[in-house]
Amino acid sequence: MISFLLNNQTIQTSAPTGMALLDFIRKDRQLKGSKLVCKEGECGACSVLIGEQKAEGIFYQTMTSCITPLVNVQGKHVVTIEGLNMEKLTPVQQAMVDGYGTQCGFCTPGFVVSLTGYLLSTATVSMEGIIGAIDGNICRCTGYKGIERAAEFIRTQVTNDLPQLTVSNLISKKYIPDYFKEIPNRLAAIPTVQKEQKGTTKLGGGTDLYVQRPWTMYETEALPVYDRPAMKQIESKEGHCIFGASLTMGDLYRSELFKKVLPNSEYIFKLLSSTQIRNMATIGGNLVNASPIGDFTILLLALDSKIIIEKEGNRRTLALNNFYKGYKQIDLKEGEILEKIQFKIPSAATHFHFEKVSQRKYFDIASVNFASSFNLKNDLIQEAHLAVGGVGPIPTYLHRTGDFLKGKLIHEDTIRAAIDILNVEIFPISDARGSADYKRLLARQLFVAQFMANQEKELELEKIID
Ligand SMILES: Cc1cc2nc3c(=O)[nH]c(=O)nc-3n(C[C@H](O)[C@H](O)[C@H](O)COP(=O)(O)OP(=O)(O)OC[C@H]3O[C@@H](n4cnc5c(N)ncnc54)[C@H](O)[C@@H]3O)c2cc1C
Ligand code: FES
Ligand code: FES
Repeated sequence: MISFLLNNQTIQTSAPTGMALLDFIRKDRQLKGSKLVCKEGECGACSVLIGEQKAEGIFYQTMTSCITPLVNVQGKHVVTIEGLNMEKLTPVQQAMVDGYGTQCGFCTPGFVVSLTGYLLSTATVSMEGIIGAIDGNICRCTGYKGIERAAEFIRTQVTNDLPQLTVSNLISKKYIPDYFKEIPNRLAAIPTVQKEQKGTTKLGGGTDLYVQRPWTMYETEALPVYDRPAMKQIESKEGHCIFGASLTMGDLYRSELFKKVLPNSEYIFKLLSSTQIRNMATIGGNLVNASPIGDFTILLLALDSKIIIEKEGNRRTLALNNFYKGYKQIDLKEGEILEKIQFKIPSAATHFHFEKVSQRKYFDIASVNFASSFNLKNDLIQEAHLAVGGVGPIPTYLHRTGDFLKGKLIHEDTIRAAIDILNVEIFPISDARGSADYKRLLARQLFVAQFMANQEKELELEKIID
């Protein structure tokens, strides 16, 4: 039995726990406002808000319901477009009308949900923030200009209407319905613990599983790890950052600790999927999925991370660069869960950088991605960790290139010689994301880009890139 709030209604259902939330909403509850288009988390037409209890109140995030497992909404508040509708259009809906932000209307509920979700989750409204909030919503009709106009109307009106963005102010100005007032009390009465299941398929946010095998997931008794409290924490301890594998990309993006540990990392998150997917995609899922181009996988390899694997209370620690054994083969035995990830907190002498090249700059998977961290002292490289994705069957940690760089003076000749080593450590193949030669070129260029971003002294690096 799964219990949650759907709009203003308390739900207790024995529907299959592996059912996609959108199927439950549309088929079981006959709420047809959330649209089914891609069923792969790509278009945002099925976007809903999912609110959960936090110390400071209910925290709402936008997610794509087509790939949200029903079991993951236990004890939460799910808001569809129907749950935002009132007698009159809300100011967000009205802005979409006034800005000519809608034509066929198929994408519109998703946009309205994402825009309203933004108002529920921010303290101040900016154009950059509003546009960022709809980075996972696609419209095939309007060319986006009308939607941008609507966003501008919303920004102006919210600035005038709401000096403080609180739930009660949003209710009083009719941005959201009255029943939101009662949600904290009603949610408090529903347990948040996910149903313990005997399944063997570990389930994070579902953003890989529900794209790769949606129909079998419907039938699957999965083992949800998404909301395990011990896997949702982040801490710094004895010079290390240690965090639970069920933290999502969005959780880390918002984490003040993570910002301190990895300053200037905001640009990286913007290169990772969309707001909705970042809110669902766990770091554990990214690592275990073992995609050769997993962005967080490459990032964490370059931080020389370790992973903590748990089974029935027993734990073992493994260097992440020993986790990948072959294409989609990992050192994870039956019943083991990736519980935590840890890495040494970079010091002031550490240079960390991440690059990603994809066919589309945003909301696309990488053709090649590259990350590095190296420590410099008097222009000497003390330690170097490099990882590159998309150039082999596994996310590639560049052992030999990193070893070569250790103890070397940072200089054009060093970089040139390192490229020769890098070239024999990678094995790209031609596929939809580019030819093998193109990926080899990208790997070289992104390697040089690490030094361009981090250099403390002038290097003539342009000449090295051919
Ligand atoms: C539209 C879209 C865009 C995307 N864009 C990007 C992108 O830009 N960059 C990127 O890197 N990825 C991207 N992805 C892929 C995906 O979002 C990530 O790989 C994500 O981190 C997977 O996490 P999850 O929790 O959703 O995994 P799930 O689908 O829940 O699980 C993935 C795998 O990991 C296993 N698993 C999950 N958690 C654990 C655990 N704690 N212990 C053991 N096993 C576990 C599952 O059994 C499964 O095999 C995208 C996906 C979609 C749908
Ligand atoms: S239907 Fe496209 S994201 Fe869900
Ligand atoms: S208005 Fe038709 S898809 Fe956006």
